Formats: sequence, C-alpha cells, structure tokens
Amino acid sequence: MAISKTKKFYIETYGCQMNVADSEVIATVLTDNQLQQTKAIESADIILINTCAIRDHAEQRIYGRLDYFNSLKKKNPNIKIGIVGCMAERLKDKLLDKKPFIDLIAGPDAYRHLPAMFSSMEAGQKVVNVLLQKEETYEGILPTRYDSNGISAFISITRGCDNMCAYCVVPFTRGRERSRLPEDILKEIDAVKNSGFKEVTLIGQNVDKYRFTDENRTVDFPALLEMVATHIPDMRVRFSTSYPQDFSEKVVQVMKKYPNICRYIHLPVQSGSNKILDLMKRGYTREWYLDRIAMIRKYLPDCAISTDIIAGFCDETEADHHDTLELMKQVKFDFAYMFKYSERPGTFAAKRYQDNVPEAIKKKRLNEIIELQTRLSLESNEKDIGKTFEVLVEGISKKSADKYFGRNSQNKVIVFPKGSAQIGDFVPVKVTNVSSATLIGEVV
Ligand code: 5AD
Ligand code: SF4
Repeated sequence: MAISKTKKFYIETYGCQMNVADSEVIATVLTDNQLQQTKAIESADIILINTCAIRDHAEQRIYGRLDYFNSLKKKNPNIKIGIVGCMAERLKDKLLDKKPFIDLIAGPDAYRHLPAMFSSMEAGQKVVNVLLQKEETYEGILPTRYDSNGISAFISITRGCDNMCAYCVVPFTRGRERSRLPEDILKEIDAVKNSGFKEVTLIGQNVDKYRFTDENRTVDFPALLEMVATHIPDMRVRFSTSYPQDFSEKVVQVMKKYPNICRYIHLPVQSGSNKILDLMKRGYTREWYLDRIAMIRKYLPDCAISTDIIAGFCDETEADHHDTLELMKQVKFDFAYMFKYSERPGTFAAKRYQDNVPEAIKKKRLNEIIELQTRLSLESNEKDIGKTFEVLVEGISKKSADKYFGRNSQNKVIVFPKGSAQIGDFVPVKVTNVSSATLIGEVV
C-alpha cells in the first residue's frame, strides 16, 4: 500500500546540531515522496520527534513530549507518532513497552526508509528500523532548510563517532565514523548560497577526523576547510566539534589564511584532571590540551575558544574538580557548555565504573563551574568594549522589536539598534556595553 499523498507530517527536533541537520534530511526524504510538511502540530497526520540520548534529562523531556503527542492521538486516533534519532536507536523496540502508542521507531541511519516505513504504518503495523549502516551518509539528498533563519546553515560532513569516550552513548546511537563526499558537501553549500544564506557551519561529532579517500585522492579536514573557504569567499565558514587529540596545527594555519573562516573554536576539554581524563578515555592530558590552546593563541590571538565540561564523573574528587576550575581560569574560556555526569547504560563507564559522586556534590560542583564560567565570559566580553566587529545580522532581538541580533566572527551574540541594516547584512558594530551572555552595541 502506498502512502496517501495528502498526509501531513510534523517534526520536532531535540539535541545537537547534528539532529537539526538530520531533521532537514528527513523532511527532504518525505517531501520527495509527496508528503507535505506542516509546522502546525494540530494539523499533522504524522508527528515525528527527533531525539537525543546523551543525558538522562534529555530523554525524560522527550517522554514528556511523547505523552503530549499521545493526548492529541486520543482526540484523533488517526494520528501516527514516530520517534527517530539517538533515543530511538538506544532503546529500540523497548520503547514500545514504555510508550505503546508509538507507531514508528527509526534510528539515525534509517531515514531513507521512512516512506516505506510510513506505508507499513498506514497499514496498521508498528514499524521499527534501528539498523546502523557503515556507509550511510545520505549522499544525494539535498536537505530542506525548513526551520532555519535563512542566514546560517548546518552542513554535516561526518556521521558517527569512533572515539568511545567512556561516558558517551553517541558511538552506540550513531554508529561508526564516516565522511561525506567533498563534492556532495560543496553541492549542499551551493544550494544554501543560492537561497541567500550567508554562513555555513560544518558539523560532525569530531570534524578533525574528516577524511575522504578514493583512488585519486585523500581529502582531510584542513583540505576540506580550505576547499570550502575558497569556494564561498563571501560567506562565513564555521565548524564544530573539534577534538583535542586530533586538532592539528594545519587547521589553525588554514583558518589564519582565510578571513572568512570564523575566529571561533569549540574544543571540549571535559575535565582538567589527568586522572579523570584517563578514566574518561579521552586520550589526552591537561598539558596536551593547554598546549593546543597555546598553539591556537599563537596563530590566532583574536580567536574565541569554548568548551564542554562534565562535573562529577566517576571517582572525581574535590582535588580533581579543582583541577578543572584551575584549567578554566588558565584558559579563560569565552564560553562553555556545562553538564552533570549522567550515566548512560551500555557505555564503558556504566559497565566498569561506579557512578559514585553523590547527586548533591555533582550539583555543587556544576554550580561552581557555572559561576566561574559566568565570570570568565563577562571578563572576555568586557575586553570587547570599544571594539568594532563585523556582525552578520541574524534576526530581530527577542527582547526588543527595534533591535537586531547577530554574531561576530568569535560567535558572540551582539544586540544593536536596527538603523538601516537588513537581516543577512554584514555590518560594523561597535560594542558599548556587555553582560556575561551578550554584547550590546551600535552600527558605526
Ligand atoms: N553525561 C554528561 N554529559 C555528557 N556529554 C556526553 N555524554 C555525557 C554524559 N553521559 C557531554 C560532553 C559532550 C557534550 C556533547 O555532552 O561534554 O562534549
Ligand atoms: Fe561522544 Fe567522545 Fe565521540 Fe564526542 S568524541 S561524540 S564525547 S564518544
């Protein structure tokens, strides 16, 4: 049985940038099969939720949303509910025991099969496809940017992760690392350029591992970055996430050569303690990390650096926690994403270590980390007062209709009076005031 062409689907996305990009792939696969996308959940026949499994908290939120979708289904029993992404991959058909109203479960490598899965679902079956594919990179699919600001697009360059950090569920939910064909990446970039976008962010769990090889050539991440930067000299290029072990001087040299590559590096450290880094199986030491920072600063003194930090990993003592705080002060991160450790079933840490830092201590340490980072972010922003940055205007400020917000090369958000600027313009903005989260300025 074919899927009815009048069916409307709705997608809600949680988690990382990768999921944003994947939802765009899903939307393309479905619209190519004549389904219609709706942004209004009330008018949807099929509700999809693209999920994250990285921490328990993320999954609890998704259960809450699923229950809400079920309340809609109770009013209209024709509605079908599908769960896709990392949580679908992690829990597979066990989700049907927890939430029997779910009709479809699809892992991150099953999106090409969604139309066929929809047909079985329409015939009244529960459908599950959580097979991970070593090769799937969604080659040939040009994602629809249905939910973007029209200015900045995520372009995925790698899928999966082979790193196996002890705490992390991603290698289990997204499978083995693989790199997309460079020409496919450039084609996608051309498409967003032609639709008026001004910035691309090349994304992957570990972009430094990008490597495309065929009979004639090998393209590694620095080479790809250079290819992209020269291909779109009038657009901004960003990338995320870098991995300390693999982050090379070559990347920074390419950045230095091309002013359209933004002065911003996201380099997750996770912990400042060598003992914890070893337990986490990160493959580098605090000294190695600090050396990477020194290398970045040597070439690019104006480059902003952000990080990820986990508080309360297994066996973390107060001394280990202080090592993290000290490292933060030493590096003076411009920004950080900070988390409490959340044990994920099936990971090395869950199998081999005790989740032995009490919840209250995790919370206390996380608060100390957040407090310190708020101070460091404020200090970093205060240094920008009086400076003028080129800002890409992304939209209207949420707090004030007569102001725009945009970002500078360093990825800092700047709010300023609209004047005669348009969304999508690059404008020079002088910083006049700051908070720990935002710069405030005026067009000069
Ligand atoms: N608990 C807490 N934080 C985690 N992260 C990954 N796995 C976990 C976990 N089990 C964090 C890391 C990673 C970011 C994307 O999420 O800091 O860099
Ligand atoms: Fe997870 Fe480590 Fe891979 Fe990042 S690099 S996705 S933390 S396993």
